[in-house]
Amino acid sequence: MNATLDHMTAALNDCDENSPFLLENEAEYQVWRARKLELRQQLDANLVLQLDHTGGLSESQRAQARQQVSAFNFAIFQSAKEMSKLEFLALNSQFGLQRLDSNLGADIDGVTSLRVVGEADERAQYIPYTNRALNWHTDGYYNEPDRSIDAFALYCVNQALRGGGNCLFDHELLYILIRDQAPELLAALMAEDLMRIPPNIQANRVIRGEASGPVFSILSGQRGLRMRYTSRPRYIVWKSDKRSQQALNLVREILVDSAAVIELRLENNQGIVCNNILHGRQAFHDQAMQPGRLIYRARFYDAINIDGDPATASARV
Ligand SMILES: [Fe+2]
Repeated sequence: MNATLDHMTAALNDCDENSPFLLENEAEYQVWRARKLELRQQLDANLVLQLDHTGGLSESQRAQARQQVSAFNFAIFQSAKEMSKLEFLALNSQFGLQRLDSNLGADIDGVTSLRVVGEADERAQYIPYTNRALNWHTDGYYNEPDRSIDAFALYCVNQALRGGGNCLFDHELLYILIRDQAPELLAALMAEDLMRIPPNIQANRVIRGEASGPVFSILSGQRGLRMRYTSRPRYIVWKSDKRSQQALNLVREILVDSAAVIELRLENNQGIVCNNILHGRQAFHDQAMQPGRLIYRARFYDAINIDGDPATASARV
């Protein structure tokens, strides 16, 4: 393990009481920013952690994973053989991810099997269960605040014949790009009433209540940054004042133009664990008689904590 990198990661993990994500904490922000960007330069976002036959991370891989998450807010892994959902959850728990969100459409064990479902299946109305593209979003952006998704993991059991790749964007890097360019717009992105999601009501039954909240917020007690976002224009109402619209337009511009977008097409037995970064999915195609694309997904109310110590929970600050 590179001692300098290890030292830098430790520095990123070093929590103090002043979040670098608060606009008034300029000195803290500059220190955090410099360390994060330096780490990103030195590491490879596409590094794949090769799990052993038990699906475990060795001590050195834990250190590597910690660095990857510090730099990019995600880590890629590959299992030696096909993982069961239980093994997938056991791997997630090595990243400190335990409190599973059993979303609508999840299997009985709380893991969601993302695959194309037949028209008779009520999940067919939701894009993740079709072969259509998914534009930029963070998972569970529509959840009520007490069910915020702070991390999720994907595991590819079977990739599509064509397409099905993901695009990824570390929202902490997005924060940096905005703060460097237009810090006055960050307040708008952190306003509690910036986005409003109408309730999901079907057949007179409330599936989910109305939710509202900011795009960026600070993870309490962990010194990390949470993002809620969707580029879908439907079922979301954005605040309409000029400053909010300017801020949202800047987010859109960065996501369209940025060289920082990472493209990743998971191979069979590969997956990612991330702090609910921005992501999207290409459309995909399978052939009849083939097994079809199948991805396991687990969403968590926890952020990644590879140390196993809540006092040093932020792998990102
Ligand atoms: Fe997603």
